[in-house]
Amino acid sequence: MTSSPTVPAFTLTRPQAAPLDPPPLYAQLREEQPVTRVSLWEGRLTPWLVTRWEDARAVLGSPAFSTDQTHPGAPTFNEGAQQGPRGFFQNYDDPIHAAMRRTLTREFMIKRVDALRPAIAHLTDELLTDLTELSGPADFVEHFALPLPSLVICELLGVPYEEHPFFQEQSRTFVDLNATGEESARAFANLGEYLLRLVRTKRATPGDDVVTRLAAQADDGVITDQDAADLSAFLLFAGHETTANMIALSTITLLNNPDQIPHILGGPDQVASTVEELLRYLTIVHGGLRRTAIDDVTIGGVTIHAGEGVIIPVNVANRDPEFFTNPDDLDPERANVRQHLAFGYGIHQCLGQPLARAELQIVLPEVFRRLPSLKIAVPMEEIAFKQATAVYGVRELPVTW
Ligand code: HEM
Repeated sequence: MTSSPTVPAFTLTRPQAAPLDPPPLYAQLREEQPVTRVSLWEGRLTPWLVTRWEDARAVLGSPAFSTDQTHPGAPTFNEGAQQGPRGFFQNYDDPIHAAMRRTLTREFMIKRVDALRPAIAHLTDELLTDLTELSGPADFVEHFALPLPSLVICELLGVPYEEHPFFQEQSRTFVDLNATGEESARAFANLGEYLLRLVRTKRATPGDDVVTRLAAQADDGVITDQDAADLSAFLLFAGHETTANMIALSTITLLNNPDQIPHILGGPDQVASTVEELLRYLTIVHGGLRRTAIDDVTIGGVTIHAGEGVIIPVNVANRDPEFFTNPDDLDPERANVRQHLAFGYGIHQCLGQPLARAELQIVLPEVFRRLPSLKIAVPMEEIAFKQATAVYGVRELPVTW
């Protein structure tokens, strides 16, 4: 397929003046052509773009779409993207997806996640104490937003305390946009080897953690040791940068909307709804969820044929004025806030969402309680936003307090 002048290129770049809103082109498309073609890979692929909330939900909830990246029409982020092992089950359809996901569902039940809350609160407290001992300005991403979720994942997986520095260093390199391809491949390989070793260590000396329980499932023949290591690596990648970016962007957003700060300092219900509204407003997975039709299906009055790719920019759907009143306002009191699509929808809906919520509900009130004079140390125009990545965020955030 080739691009034509009427098919706009799919872009992630936002104007500097509105870095927290989706690119303006998409609001116009949602209004005028809610199901339309866009071009990817310099026009070599022209998947559909589905921008309305209702249509986005219909695609994500439909069994007519696949996440398998090996379909020729799969609108992957980069041309020739790898499918990855089955432990990275987001790229697999049922039954493999369901079988892999099932090995972890109990880990993210509310009760399990609630048991992690004291550890999250303790890590938050320690990191904020260390931050305030620095002489400002300091980088909020390096000193707080990035290490916090990484330490929480260490806790979840059961990485022994003395091995945190190695583990964090490798994960930091892997997610570092400034790292060379070679450096991030080496970090990925190091983590893979480390996790496989950890699976075997936990078998000999079990703990109360995810890797121990995955090793037990390998003993029962449900999965292999390699699956256990891959599933652990997938949790690290899925839950590390996402939460880190949400922490940094939520902090910027609240500082830009100071009248909403009392909501994040309110009671548990107010905190919870403020976090949901921040998830909707920021919708950091802004590269669009990606699917390929495996049957012909009609979405928003348009027939999508089997084999065609679809991009679902949930950040655009979450600003649909037909579903969310005044969608560009941050309003923690909106009635339907919980119906946002920031965690996706359907069988691939974010498995880690209870943990992500717990982290944000603990961390954000604590940041504003402990640092009441928190300020961004540079003008908004100088903040380096990560534009061209699948998950939106900031590279660094200099702050004073
Ligand atoms: C899937 C967002 C944090 C684990 C997803 C999807 C989204 C998402 C949009 C769906 C992808 C799709 O349908 O193609 C987020 C956001 C987070 C976050 C915004 C933070 C605020 C986490 C955490 C974990 C996690 C903390 C675990 C530690 C997963 C997994 C999947 C997933 C395992 C794949 C689910 C499946 O395919 O069945 N996430 N996520 N996420 N997320 Fe998250």
